[in-house]
Amino acid sequence: MNVLLLGSGGREHAIAWKISQSSLLSKLYVAPGNAGTDSLATNVDLDPMDFPSIGRFIRKNEINMLIVGPEAPLVEGIIDFFQDSDKFEGLVTIGPRKAGAMLEGSKDFAKAFMARHNIPTADYATFKSNEIKKAKNYLDERTPPYVIKADGLAAGKGVIITSDREEAESTLEDILLNNQFGDAGSQVVIEQYMEGIEVSYFVVTDGDAYRILPSAKDYKRVGEGDTGPNTGGMGAVSPVPFVDAEFHTKTLNQIIIPTIKGLKEDEIPYNGFIFIGLMRVGSDPYVVEYNTRLGDPETEVVLPRVKSDLLHMFDALGSGMLSEYDLQIDERAATTVILTSGGYPGSYEKGLNIIGLNNEPDPKEGIVFHAGTKTSRGKVLTNGGRVIACTGLGANIEKALERSYKLAGSIDFGKKQYRKDIGQDVITKEE
Ligand code: GLY
Repeated sequence: MNVLLLGSGGREHAIAWKISQSSLLSKLYVAPGNAGTDSLATNVDLDPMDFPSIGRFIRKNEINMLIVGPEAPLVEGIIDFFQDSDKFEGLVTIGPRKAGAMLEGSKDFAKAFMARHNIPTADYATFKSNEIKKAKNYLDERTPPYVIKADGLAAGKGVIITSDREEAESTLEDILLNNQFGDAGSQVVIEQYMEGIEVSYFVVTDGDAYRILPSAKDYKRVGEGDTGPNTGGMGAVSPVPFVDAEFHTKTLNQIIIPTIKGLKEDEIPYNGFIFIGLMRVGSDPYVVEYNTRLGDPETEVVLPRVKSDLLHMFDALGSGMLSEYDLQIDERAATTVILTSGGYPGSYEKGLNIIGLNNEPDPKEGIVFHAGTKTSRGKVLTNGGRVIACTGLGANIEKALERSYKLAGSIDFGKKQYRKDIGQDVITKEE
């Protein structure tokens, strides 16, 4: 089977690493990819948002399966583009159509979906740009901290949490009146703050059958002790110790099954991942957000724990046979620590030489996934804010972290930065 995978981050390197182990694979292309995917697939210089060029590549290279890594092409309708054209009959596509991707593409859509299907989430209201006064008044109905979300995709920057009333009001003005997030801020969702611990669930579904991948916790803030601005994610751990049988059963019955049933009731076909960001409040799960793809850096700890063949799972998903697929999970723990370029998530340099990548770890103990990297004249250079994901595997989170941090110390580039406290909160809870 010839596969084209779209994307260029650590998530895509992890997907490419996993499916390149499959006996079903003939040829793997990644567009545009990074220096990591370059070592196990053929990188193709294609923009994931340029659907016609991707189409020409698919036809010329007899691609059988298209896997979409990031959210933007899904929300823009890449799956509809290929499924609705008779030129691509037989092409298996992994990812939801635009209607399903709206669960991530519009916070208002997702909240209304949850309300309609009685899926637990924080109380909320949505306001358009001509409703700024109503939006400010609505803050009176919420207890601080105020949670303000731009409706559309905003590269992880569209959620503002503040206890300061003045800042909340100026945030509403920035989004609704000053177009801080462009079209993504044409409306805002204001919701009740939830106090609890976050965990991410990854579900793959064909709209009927589903499989649940290992859960994970990511660390979004740039600074230790969860301080500083939000990032794409500075590290992740899997499993999450507080996800016990009781919490899992509640999540399954109150959230996962109603979500899949809800999509069916709303006549929204779905073929791909649903990444559910949950908050455990007391002992109960509440949905913080839906995403319609795998998480990054969560994928770098989730896929190393999947023992079964991922390409086989995608094949089953594409042929309506997911209910027959035997998903096997490795009991070991996985952790990842992200090496970032100094200045991230603000401005940072690119093109810095990366050293230490040749001393590859024993694959049973660790894996180096590339995120923002590129190959140039035989060298591997930084090409983004998040540069390398140092994944460790071990009998428990502590052991896995030891291996992640050993890797993090062995790879270097100018202005390398990383958090030293990934996973510490869950280790304490484990004891
Ligand atoms: N790590 C969060 C995300 O992928 O959206």
